[in-house]
Amino acid sequence: MLFDGNNILEEESSDFNTDKKKYVKSKRDDKLRRGSHFTKWYNFYFERIRNRKLNILEIGIAGGGSLNMWRNFFPNSKIYGVDINRKKLEENKKSLRGIKVFIGDQSDETFMADICESIPEGLDIIIDDGSHMNNHQIFSFKYLFNRMNSGGIYVIEDVHTSYRSYYRKKSSKSTIEYLKKRIDDINVHGRLERYYAENILGQEELSYYEKTVESIHFYPDICFIFKR
Ligand SMILES: C[S@@+](CC[C@H](N)C(=O)[O-])C[C@H]1O[C@@H](n2cnc3c(N)ncnc32)[C@H](O)[C@@H]1O
Repeated sequence: MLFDGNNILEEESSDFNTDKKKYVKSKRDDKLRRGSHFTKWYNFYFERIRNRKLNILEIGIAGGGSLNMWRNFFPNSKIYGVDINRKKLEENKKSLRGIKVFIGDQSDETFMADICESIPEGLDIIIDDGSHMNNHQIFSFKYLFNRMNSGGIYVIEDVHTSYRSYYRKKSSKSTIEYLKKRIDDINVHGRLERYYAENILGQEELSYYEKTVESIHFYPDICFIFKR
C-alpha cells in the first residue's frame, strides 16, 4: 500500500496554521475548519528528501503558516516565499525571519526573472499556492519549470479552479487542459513510434517538455510535475 496513513509532515506541523493540513484555524472565529489535506501527498514525496539541501519556493504566503511548516520540515533547505501583497510580509515579519520573501506578481515576467537571478543555485521544489488564476498558474509554470533544477518537483495547488469560470476569465485554456498537453509530452514515444521502432530517436526531435517532463501525478485538487 503506497499511502499507509503515515503523515509525519502533519504530525510535526501542529504549530503552523495552513490550509494544506487536515484542519485550519479560521481567522474570524478561531474555529477549526476542514483544510485541503494536502500534507498527505506532500509527506509521500517529501519525507524521503527532507534532510537534503534544497531550494524551495512557494508562491502565496498568506499568514506564513506554510513557509514556517516547510522550514521546520526541511531543516537543511532554504525556503523562499512570493506574494503580491506586502502586508502579508509586514504582518508576519517576525515569524518569517530567515525566510527570503519576494514581493510581486507571479504573472509578471520581469519580477519572476529577478527571483531566478537572485537564486543562482536554482530551485528544486516550487509550489504554486498563489492567485489560482489559471493564466497565472500556466504562466508561472512555463516560466519557472524551464528554470528549475533537473530532478525538481513543481506543485500546483487548488487545480479545481480549472473548473470555475472566475479563475479562468483570462485563460483560453484551463490549467488542467494545459497539463493534459504535458501528459501528451510524457507519451512522446506514441508520436515518434516509427523512430523508436528504428531505434534512432534523437533529442532534436523532441520539444522542451517532451525532453523534461518525467511524470505528472494528479490527486484531488493538487498536481505534482516531476522534472527529468
Ligand atoms: C491561498 S493563500 C496562500 C496560503 C499559504 N501558502 C498557506 O498554505 O498557508 C494565497 C496567497 O497568494 C497571494 N497572491 C494572490 N495573487 C498573487 C499573485 N498574482 N502573485 C503572487 N501572490 C499572489 C495572496 O496575497 C495570498 O497571500
